[in-house]
Amino acid sequence: MKKYLILYSTTDGQTHKIANHIANQIGVENCQLLNLIEADDVDLTQYEKVIIGASIRYGHFNKKLYSFINKNEQQLQAMESFFYGVNLTARKEGKDTPKGSSYIQKFLVKSTWQPKLIGVFAGALYYPRYRWLDRVMIRLIMTMTGGETDTSKEVEYTNWEKVTEFALQIKQK
Ligand SMILES: Cc1cc2nc3c(=O)[nH]c(=O)nc-3n(C[C@H](O)[C@H](O)[C@H](O)COP(=O)(O)O)c2cc1C
Repeated sequence: MKKYLILYSTTDGQTHKIANHIANQIGVENCQLLNLIEADDVDLTQYEKVIIGASIRYGHFNKKLYSFINKNEQQLQAMESFFYGVNLTARKEGKDTPKGSSYIQKFLVKSTWQPKLIGVFAGALYYPRYRWLDRVMIRLIMTMTGGETDTSKEVEYTNWEKVTEFALQIKQK
């Protein structure tokens, strides 16, 4: 049987962690995980379904996401294909749905591929791991949006039940 391919674009690892969780729900033996930066030569026809996950940094998904989509547009459109986005805004109710997420709405305008199902998940806040400028910037955003401002803290906002539900929906399709 062909496997599911789970591609992820990550900087601090949370999108990869979510990819692992999805694989655990589907069955790790049926899944192959691959970082999007290593997916240049991937042949999507070799897979049963594809799931692509990407995180937001300063308002944008990685450019690599769009170049991958452009290169594989026809095959993505032809097969069962799914997308999830990860960001901190999604920790707020209403911002954790494709309709409520401005990042997903912008993605759908920019992307030539329209996924069969889209998940929006809150990511993680890892202040101690950030470079100085990133830490200052993220703290500013957190101050403005009523989030955690203690830069000694690491907070994971991901709702794992929601990720499980997303994975099971994909399995059923
Ligand atoms: C430098 C930086 C910029 C970020 N910019 C945004 C942003 O514009 N909007 C947002 O909702 N979250 C933003 N985030 C939060 C990330 O999307 C979140 O931490 C996510 O878990 C990162 O996933 P990753 O570890 O897979 O890259 C930012 C995080 C960092 C470190």
